Amino acid sequence: MSTLRHPKVQPQVLDFTPYEAGLSIEEIKSAYNLSWIVKLASNENPLGISPYVRKVVAQSASFGFRYPRQGNPDLCLALADFYGLAPENFLVSNGSDEAIDLLLRVMARPGKDNVLVFDPCFSMYRLQARLCGLKVRSVPLNRDFSFPFEQLLKTADQDTALVFVTNPDNPSGYAAPKEQLLEVAAGLPEDCLLVLDEAYCEFADAPGAISPIRELSALKNLVILRTFSKLYGLAGLRLGYGIMPAWLREYLLRVKPPFSVNLLAEQAGLAALRDGFFAEKTLNTVHAGKSYLGRELEDIGCTVFPSQANFLMFKPPVPAKSLHERLLQQGIIIRPLAGYGLEDYLRVSIGNSSENKAFIRATRDIVSQG
Ligand SMILES: Cc1ncc(COP(=O)(O)O)c(C=O)c1O
Repeated sequence: MSTLRHPKVQPQVLDFTPYEAGLSIEEIKSAYNLSWIVKLASNENPLGISPYVRKVVAQSASFGFRYPRQGNPDLCLALADFYGLAPENFLVSNGSDEAIDLLLRVMARPGKDNVLVFDPCFSMYRLQARLCGLKVRSVPLNRDFSFPFEQLLKTADQDTALVFVTNPDNPSGYAAPKEQLLEVAAGLPEDCLLVLDEAYCEFADAPGAISPIRELSALKNLVILRTFSKLYGLAGLRLGYGIMPAWLREYLLRVKPPFSVNLLAEQAGLAALRDGFFAEKTLNTVHAGKSYLGRELEDIGCTVFPSQANFLMFKPPVPAKSLHERLLQQGIIIRPLAGYGLEDYLRVSIGNSSENKAFIRATRDIVSQG
């Protein structure tokens, strides 16, 4: 990184360490001289992209010279139909990352307000909050990775603008029941928003039991974030959405770059919502793969944490760092969790059957060699 400290750069940018995505497939191939890679590091869809969506995207490419419609009204309408809510409750964004950024930029005052997160948590909340000049307060998760909500409520004060909760959580996969989340929403100081990041909610055994989406219309301080990156296999097209009170959406739309969601992403999202078959097939693959991986990892001697998401966090019986590196050398990429402060743990995304088997075979070999 450049050591130049240009006098006009904002102070919070000068010392900022950006989000670190894992190495790409191409980088790993060239670093380890491999031709074959199994990537189970970013919780992507194990089936790839839906064939139907791919067809729609290809057909839509000829309209690529047109600007998309500002605010993506067609997709808001389709989402509203899908969930039985009003289109005014939906903000479509360039991945849920953009919605996180917009919330922080619009709903908190730099130098004054604070943002509350659990520790560890998905790193984007902290990173973007700091960039926005906001203070970040964190509450350590319980030892079993469940959420200490009482402590969270005690830590919030009149200057707390936003509270981020990932449910199911990343990286543990833990999910709190919706009744607890409703209590938190009701217990926060007035004007403080509860932002529930539900990127993985669809993978839960009973999504209705963990998501307060049905209660959203009755609450004035609840925001739910969801994404097309996981269940719908569109991570590379960048498409997410927030479900929120209409007044809040109006503020966020003032600030959002008008065309940040591109035309192909919007068409892909519309097609994905119509393709229930692919979503169902993904869920079946993830549920079966999760049982298989959980069983096998335990058999290998790992401690595996119960997960409501499309990944598993585990503690291997050998040092996590060395298992991660030795898997990499064989072309198998999983996620080390040192960046979350969890040096002894690893996270593996649920892949398709052959990816899961390749990962287990390699892990078993490495662990047996000690
Ligand atoms: C908890 C959580 N929220 C949000 C995201 C980002 O999703 P998107 O691809 O929609 O920006 C991720 C991505 O891995 C995530 O783990």
